[in-house]
Amino acid sequence: MQLRHVLLPLARSANQLYLESKRTKSSAYTLERLQIMFIGILGTGQVAQTLARALSDAGHQISLGSRDPQSKTFEFPVLPLAEAVATADVVINATLGSGSLETLTSIGADAFAGKIVLDVANANTPAFDLLYPNSSLGEQLQAALPGAKIVKTMNTASMAVITDPSALGPSSVFVSGEDAGAKAIATSILTDLGWPADSVVDLGDIRSARGVEHYFLLFAALMQAKRSPMFNIQVTQ
Ligand SMILES: NC(=O)c1ccc[n+]([C@@H]2O[C@H](COP(=O)([O-])OP(=O)(O)OC[C@H]3O[C@@H](n4cnc5c(N)ncnc54)[C@H](OP(=O)(O)O)[C@@H]3O)[C@@H](O)[C@H]2O)c1
Repeated sequence: MQLRHVLLPLARSANQLYLESKRTKSSAYTLERLQIMFIGILGTGQVAQTLARALSDAGHQISLGSRDPQSKTFEFPVLPLAEAVATADVVINATLGSGSLETLTSIGADAFAGKIVLDVANANTPAFDLLYPNSSLGEQLQAALPGAKIVKTMNTASMAVITDPSALGPSSVFVSGEDAGAKAIATSILTDLGWPADSVVDLGDIRSARGVEHYFLLFAALMQAKRSPMFNIQVTQ
């Protein structure tokens, strides 16, 4: 049996569980510290939906961007990709990693001028090998969209963990990118999701994205060993 046939159902069921648990929880949230942002999430899969629900619960305004918006019905507006980018303060790339470069470049580099783009995708082949073994999707996106402020983040744990870090003990999450301001916004969004500020590790420039993207190989092995996506790593010193 191929690895992806084991891992994908595990990840999907964890995200589904998160969505269901959120639907039944109280929606009383503190807005004391929140800077409300318009967030355009590219993609309409489980990751996009899980992030949309969690960031909406945290008080942000959400739209999803799709290649075929007419065919999608969700609780959030689904826009054509270019419109989701144009109307967003912050864009999140939650598209299929192997198609992300083509999908985002098809929108046009000019559309991304000055935009903060949080890239959460992992770019793998169908056999779960790295698509960019000597580079990373984050670097490829930054090169193709030079006006964008790409921040690689949130790709090292299941979205069920990323959107609810309290489900585990203390653990770490990472940011990589060229622009300090964009990484500060990424960190504030992580804080809105429940990540303590000292759990966010700034790895440096976008080249460091290859470290967190290549971690996918260990992540996949751990998920198979643990038979669950509900785990994370913690950096201790
Ligand atoms: N599963 C997790 O917990 C987790 C955690 C961290 C990171 N990630 C990463 O998050 C990303 C999204 O994961 P997912 O499970 O939501 O993925 P998915 O369902 O396979 O795809 C997400 C969306 O990408 C869009 N898309 C754009 N270009 C595409 C193309 N060429 N082929 C197919 N779809 C395309 C599609 O939306 P439209 O059809 O509406 O355009 C699709 O619904 C992936 O890169 C994954 O590696 C996942």
